[in-house]
Amino acid sequence: MKVILNFAISVDGKIGASSGGASKFTSKKDLERLWEIRKTADAIMVGRGTLEADHMTLTIPTEVRPAKQPLRIIVSRKGQFDFKHPVFHKEGGEIHLLSTGTPLKNPPPSISAHQMPLGTFLKYCKETLYIKTLLCEGGGELVRSLAELNVITDIHLTLAGHTLIGGAGSPGILGLLKTHLSKSQKFKLTYFEPFDNGECFLSYTTSS
Ligand SMILES: NC(=O)c1ccc[n+]([C@@H]2O[C@H](COP(=O)([O-])OP(=O)(O)OC[C@H]3O[C@@H](n4cnc5c(N)ncnc54)[C@H](OP(=O)(O)O)[C@@H]3O)[C@@H](O)[C@H]2O)c1
Repeated sequence: MKVILNFAISVDGKIGASSGGASKFTSKKDLERLWEIRKTADAIMVGRGTLEADHMTLTIPTEVRPAKQPLRIIVSRKGQFDFKHPVFHKEGGEIHLLSTGTPLKNPPPSISAHQMPLGTFLKYCKETLYIKTLLCEGGGELVRSLAELNVITDIHLTLAGHTLIGGAGSPGILGLLKTHLSKSQKFKLTYFEPFDNGECFLSYTTSS
């Protein structure tokens, strides 16, 4: 199973400010690229923090003609989801909630709830949900766990060369860099497209 990341990063490698609000510092072009990347995915996965900060519904607008709506996966340790959140009310792909800690209390019947470690859930995604391409849209804390599991196969970045964010408390794609990864990981550049608005699309992969 491919595990793809998509992030917008500032020129100093930050994905957002320390305050944790929504991270919209890139252009409409970046958003249009996001729809194209989502179209390649069987499932979109986010941490509960990103879902809430960015008010995501994890869908693809019908105007961009998706062949299907990817499954929607939201990951939590505490298992405390706010079922009033728009993601639970917007039509789209099947919703799967993963709690790696406390079991979920009373999830709505239309939702599949799981309680297991993240690594076991990824195996379930591949073997039971038949997901071939899993797109993780953050945030840093969740991606850090994927990196520790050594499962990331592809990374799409929009480098926003027009913005500096700064701040020791502002996360990068692996969240707050308190500790090194147990082993560094290497990726090859597969795509590079600069724009005159100061942004640049980059893609990397582990496969040859
Ligand atoms: N620039 C970009 O492209 C981009 C992309 C994504 C996010 N962001 C920004 O990043 C910020 C959110 O970052 P974040 O670190 O809070 O995001 P996050 O990883 O989405 O959310 C953290 C929460 O997700 C759950 N979680 C994360 N890793 C987990 C794991 N391994 N196992 C189980 N649960 C896990 C936990 O939820 P519980 O608390 O429920 O246990 C945790 O508190 C926002 O400001 C957002 O705008 C930016």
